[in-house]
Amino acid sequence: MSLPTHFTLNTGAKIPAVGLGTWKSKPGEVRKAVAFALKDGYRHIDAALIYGNEVEVGQGIVDSGVPREEIFLTSKLWNTDHPDVAAGLEKTLKDLGVDYLDLYLIHWPVRLVPNDSHPLLPVNPDGTRAVDRSWDMKETWRQMEAVYKTGKVKAIGVANWSTPYLEDLEKSWTVVPAVNQVELHPLLPQHDLREWCHKRGILLEAYSPLGSTGAPIASDPAIQAIADKYKVAPAAILISYHVNRGDVVLPKSVSEGRISSNRHLVSIDKEDLDVLNGLAAQGKAKRINTPLWGFDLGFADWYGPIKKE
Ligand SMILES: NC(=O)c1ccc[n+]([C@@H]2O[C@H](COP(=O)([O-])OP(=O)(O)OC[C@H]3O[C@@H](n4cnc5c(N)ncnc54)[C@H](OP(=O)(O)O)[C@@H]3O)[C@@H](O)[C@H]2O)c1
Repeated sequence: MSLPTHFTLNTGAKIPAVGLGTWKSKPGEVRKAVAFALKDGYRHIDAALIYGNEVEVGQGIVDSGVPREEIFLTSKLWNTDHPDVAAGLEKTLKDLGVDYLDLYLIHWPVRLVPNDSHPLLPVNPDGTRAVDRSWDMKETWRQMEAVYKTGKVKAIGVANWSTPYLEDLEKSWTVVPAVNQVELHPLLPQHDLREWCHKRGILLEAYSPLGSTGAPIASDPAIQAIADKYKVAPAAILISYHVNRGDVVLPKSVSEGRISSNRHLVSIDKEDLDVLNGLAAQGKAKRINTPLWGFDLGFADWYGPIKKE
């Protein structure tokens, strides 16, 4: 069975199934990584203002020589910019050196109130994050819809949104999010969230597919056993898992060898996909990315029952 190279967003646009992640890719490394990836065949880059490296990401795009219109470029509205989405977008466009994005996401359903403690991660005097719990995310989405209508972003979506947050947004959205980018891997398969999103035409994007820094999930014995069966590296199984399920995947690397190998996918048999889908419910469930916002983001049922696909 051949795997899809692209999926279709609810806007009708095509999105490459594998994109290069850029979180924690340091300045000095990320420019080369992006340029190499694009020359190697990637056509999808996942960026964000909070990663602090969008200038270098933009330089890497230029260095690659690949025309802008051939690249699917995503960025994310940072938490301090919820009251002024257009201003947040302008910063990102300027840093990346582009005049439009293919996809713009609300990075978290969390509004941070700027103060003098830190430009992007403000804290209260007691050290807790300066979160505004009274902020209505529906207002942020209304502004996302407005920037979408300007044409500066070709699609809009969310990241780190659980079902309760999406249900609230659904009450007033006039544009359905194209994407929900969430932590997704066999130890956090998010079956219920996927089903909810798929019913509404929202594509899932898998972040931290290898378990983030150091790729810890690759050493899980169950993943290694499946990798041995297919005679590939565990990372190939973890990345391919998503495309086999119908989701976009965003592996990050700054190593040329790994950037290159990460886009070579393996077709995984149904029986092995069922094993991967069931690992979390068998006691291995694990969420890796848990920033201390100080409140529950509603992912209570985050591993859900075993579901066969
Ligand atoms: N929306 C959000 O809130 C959010 C949160 C987290 C991540 N993301 C996005 O998703 C992307 C991916 O997630 P992530 O960066 O957390 O982690 P990841 O892609 O799961 O893992 C990256 C780590 O795995 C290593 N690695 C890469 N390929 C490998 C391979 N083939 N074999 C062994 N190790 C390998 C990398 O090292 P080297 O670089 O040295 O290869 C790095 O240490 C991010 O970069 C970002 O774009 C979004």
